[in-house]
Amino acid sequence: MPVAELRASLEAEGYSYKILDQQRRVILVEVNPQGALIATRRSGFVNYSMQLIFHCSMTEPAILHAVNNVDYHHWLNKSAGFSVKVTRIQRENKQLNVGELQRKIGSRIWSAMDGKVHVDLEVPDIVFLGLITSTRFYFGVYLTARNRREFNQRRSPRRPFFNPDTIHPKIARAMVNLSRSASSDLFLDPFCGTGGLLLEASSIGSIPIGIDNDRRILLGCRRNLNHFETHFLGMHADARVLPFRSRSIDAIATDPPYGRSSSTRKAGIAALLKASLIRVADVINPGRCICFAIPLKYFKESIIDSKEYAIIEEHSVYVHRSLTRHIVVLKRK
Ligand SMILES: C[S@@+](CC[C@H](N)C(=O)[O-])C[C@H]1O[C@@H](n2cnc3c(N)ncnc32)[C@H](O)[C@@H]1O
Repeated sequence: MPVAELRASLEAEGYSYKILDQQRRVILVEVNPQGALIATRRSGFVNYSMQLIFHCSMTEPAILHAVNNVDYHHWLNKSAGFSVKVTRIQRENKQLNVGELQRKIGSRIWSAMDGKVHVDLEVPDIVFLGLITSTRFYFGVYLTARNRREFNQRRSPRRPFFNPDTIHPKIARAMVNLSRSASSDLFLDPFCGTGGLLLEASSIGSIPIGIDNDRRILLGCRRNLNHFETHFLGMHADARVLPFRSRSIDAIATDPPYGRSSSTRKAGIAALLKASLIRVADVINPGRCICFAIPLKYFKESIIDSKEYAIIEEHSVYVHRSLTRHIVVLKRK
């Protein structure tokens, strides 16, 4: 799902890209650096990004040899402050001493710049990052990171109106990204609940519209969105009879009821999903995407390729022993 989210974010922002390599927790992408910055900031799963300088095999001689061959004038001005941070991805290659490797790389950079730059661990102008994976060492310049604090602040227990059905902001953000919603797009969640997906859609600049058939929950949603100073349009309505014109919505992501604590208003879940999908497929613009989270057991019954839309991606997210959410992305034909 993280790779799919990254692809979807770049597509939503209109950047062309090519995935060059994929290691556990590292994705190598050929893309304009501005695209990398924007995709990282709007991502739920990408922790940080760097602009690659080189990658090499995972031995200290290979790493130091490659470090010696870089022209650092491209990255550093005279008197610039820099730091070097080497990180182990999932505790790989424990035999490498990270602190020592950082110092060795740092002193080589300093020598290559004839001592005209200095190490600054507090507020460096440039951070060089080294990533240790099982087979490759990736070295580059740090670009940006996802704002984890902001995500944590939007977690359900921190909102004024709490409901246990709410999905984690990281997953909600990934779903909004999978819907390819762009800035200024009209984004709809037809089962909005307490507003988790609406908050994430607004954070990336989309215009959020929420529908819920439970008035009490919709009022709670409004409290939550007001708390984060987020403007939205909320409507007390039924997802099966959405009050919108055909082809008026740009992106849809939703987490419909799944029969545990959230209300299904006595409708069978599969029937409810099917009926809402028919309506959703009508209101969305052709060529645009719908992202649904569905428990696996209802997936086959309710979502099939149809004349209106095609399934373009499916992902499974483990929630707990009795719930694995199936996240499916449909494209309106
Ligand atoms: C799983 S919850 C959504 C959780 C939401 N993503 C959040 O962040 O809180 C599903 C919501 O769908 C609403 N719902 C159930 N049947 C509906 C229907 N026919 N039309 C619209 N909303 C409905 C429920 O009231 C519930 O709030």
